[in-house]
Amino acid sequence: MNLILLGPPGAGKGTQAKRLEDKHNLRQISTGDMLRAEVKAGSEIGLQAKAVMDRGELVPDEIIISMLAQRVDVASSGAGGFILDGFPRTVRQAEALDAMLGLKNTPLHHVIELQVDDAALVERISGRFTCAKCGEGYHDRFKRPAVADTCDNCGCHEFVRRSDDNAETVRARLEAYHRQTAPLLPYYAANGLLRVVDGMAEMDAVTEQLETVIAGRQGLGGGTGPGQA
Ligand code: AP5
Repeated sequence: MNLILLGPPGAGKGTQAKRLEDKHNLRQISTGDMLRAEVKAGSEIGLQAKAVMDRGELVPDEIIISMLAQRVDVASSGAGGFILDGFPRTVRQAEALDAMLGLKNTPLHHVIELQVDDAALVERISGRFTCAKCGEGYHDRFKRPAVADTCDNCGCHEFVRRSDDNAETVRARLEAYHRQTAPLLPYYAANGLLRVVDGMAEMDAVTEQLETVIAGRQGLGGGTGPGQA
């Protein structure tokens, strides 16, 4: 099964992708994580991407598309499919993905939009932190470690916050989402793939909605949340 999780910054794409990945033997492909790895490695792509990411803008399509092409190949081998998290983000990226999948005869099963109000996104992003060792995600208010300052997953005591998770950059990221990524919603609605879930719900309730979509219990063109496609 091959999925795209679509939604604004902080909508919960990464959180939910990790949950679905384990349960359904899918491979999460996050272009944001890939770019952060390139920045950390000091590669040429990383050097080009860092300033753009820190401004909250989108990295140029050519860089993203060539980076992604290699990963979809890897994902198709071994796992039961992939979850794209943070890609595509422009109509040009969506068209490139269609071409890539067409060449490999690989179908796309669902494009799922997580709908969250802009005001809630700012709170989610500004409270986010992750384990420095295993990458487990937390939130100051919505998901604190069970034991203070200790990762639930690996026991590590060190946590990090992303450099683009500040109020000013978040505003730019939201603006980029509404201007460049939101046009993907009618794009995928037109080919019958778009499903909508209420991303304002609690994390477990969002997972349940996603499971409903995946199980195919939702009729074509239907939605489980507001603003259904
Ligand atoms: P990327 O890393 O993709 O960031 P993003 O899309 O801005 O999304 P986030 O990772 O911020 O949020 P998320 O939806 O995964 O939310 P999360 O689950 O963490 O991209 C970063 C940058 O890279 C971009 O700005 C761009 O420059 C570049 N880039 C990446 N891909 C690109 C592309 N394809 N083209 C061009 N440029 C690209 O949740 C957020 C927080 O909320 C967490 O703390 C979590 O615990 C909490 N939370 C989650 N769900 C809930 C819930 N239901 N209730 C309460 N809290 C919740």
